[in-house]
Amino acid sequence: QCDLTGWWENDLGSKMHVTEVDNQGNFSGKYYTAVSVAQKPIEPSPFIGSQHLDEDGRCTFGFTVNWKFSDSTAVFVGQCFPGEGGEEVLQSTWLLREKVNSLSNDWKATR
Ligand SMILES: *[C@@H]1O[C@H](CO)[C@@H](O)[C@H](O)[C@H]1NC(C)=O
Repeated sequence: QCDLTGWWENDLGSKMHVTEVDNQGNFSGKYYTAVSVAQKPIEPSPFIGSQHLDEDGRCTFGFTVNWKFSDSTAVFVGQCFPGEGGEEVLQSTWLLREKVNSLSNDWKATR
């Protein structure tokens, strides 16, 4: 199975807590990033997401983080993999949209 409920930590030390995954794969939680380029101090930020509920433990998922300390929005997509000794591993990637003040700066707004 791939139950996303609980705490996850990445290689940078960022953590996320998935509160609960419902029977349709909806989930929400808080993201505790360890890294930021924002001016303001980091704050835990809420996300909502959706996952496939697959029997083989290799489900794909996505979620959106609404950063509380910046005007940015991040989206993640990923997949769960069963690891050795029952430890699940999530592989994911993200896109971060930072607010820019004009259309002429649009080109640099997405990391
Ligand atoms: C899951 O999210 C969808 C889309 O927002 C919604 O229609 C559905 O009711 C949610 N499922 C549950 C169990 O809340």
